[in-house]
Amino acid sequence: MSIVRKAAITGWPVAHSRSPMVHGYWLKKYGLEGEYGRQAVDPDLAEKFYSDFSGSGLVGCNVTVPHKEIAAAACDELDDAAAAMGAANTLWLDGTGKLCGANTDGIGFLGNLDQLAPGWDSDAGTAIVLGAGGAARAIVWSLLSRNFKSVHIFNRTVSKAIALKEEFGTRTIAHPWDKLVDYLGQADLLVNTTSLGMTGKAALELDLSDLPKSALVTDIVYVPLKTDLLQQAEARGNRTVDGLGMLLHQAVPGFERWFGIRPEVDENLRSLILSDLEQ
Ligand code: ATR
Repeated sequence: MSIVRKAAITGWPVAHSRSPMVHGYWLKKYGLEGEYGRQAVDPDLAEKFYSDFSGSGLVGCNVTVPHKEIAAAACDELDDAAAAMGAANTLWLDGTGKLCGANTDGIGFLGNLDQLAPGWDSDAGTAIVLGAGGAARAIVWSLLSRNFKSVHIFNRTVSKAIALKEEFGTRTIAHPWDKLVDYLGQADLLVNTTSLGMTGKAALELDLSDLPKSALVTDIVYVPLKTDLLQQAEARGNRTVDGLGMLLHQAVPGFERWFGIRPEVDENLRSLILSDLEQ
């Protein structure tokens, strides 16, 4: 009798997570016997949970806030992104019982653009990143991994942009938010990593007049799917990519580690998650 491989989304809270729906879709699509559930991990017990992970009954897990740093610290091995960020969102036990961790947010960001805007990084010139939180950190890291020549980070709290600049080095430049207008004209890529424009949050008010028409515009916000930023960019003829695919692509490496098949981010999966988001 084969043992059913089990994975889960772990964090505090986990009730809102759409990861079970994503992995459930793939398990069904590929006819696999595995399971993917939710496991809330009380912050007081998180250190113990991840350091004793081999006793959890799971072959691996995703990690969401606020445990990504604790999970990374509990790992025996980390991929480059998780090591650089000190935060892991995907864990798995290797054949020898070692706990391995990866940070797949950047991979998800790149995978989404690779799928929906092939060739988007062929010139890899100047990127403009709005925001300097956790998502920005993963995205800046991923853009540097694709050899962008310069990555300009704009943030309301400029000290956070400066901290990212200090972390990532010479190809990154930190700016206060109000200087954006001076740099938009250089952009090959414009990325919103802030929560501005999300349903229920403040609007992202930008004047895109100086943005080159050749620039690609993308948003990590996916509720609504077509944010004001993307609508405005599309209306003036810029290529755009919405943020839903980042959520889906960041799940790919975990599924492959736990269940042995590299899953495809297909249209049916996008529709499934989209209809759930719209409810
Ligand atoms: P995440 O980890 O998802 O990136 P975060 O760390 O809370 O989330 O970062 C959210 C980003 O959105 C930050 O860059 C934040 O700017 P501050 O560092 O100044 O807080 C940005 N953000 C959120 N609300 C904002 C607002 N009303 N105006 C400007 N920036 C905002």
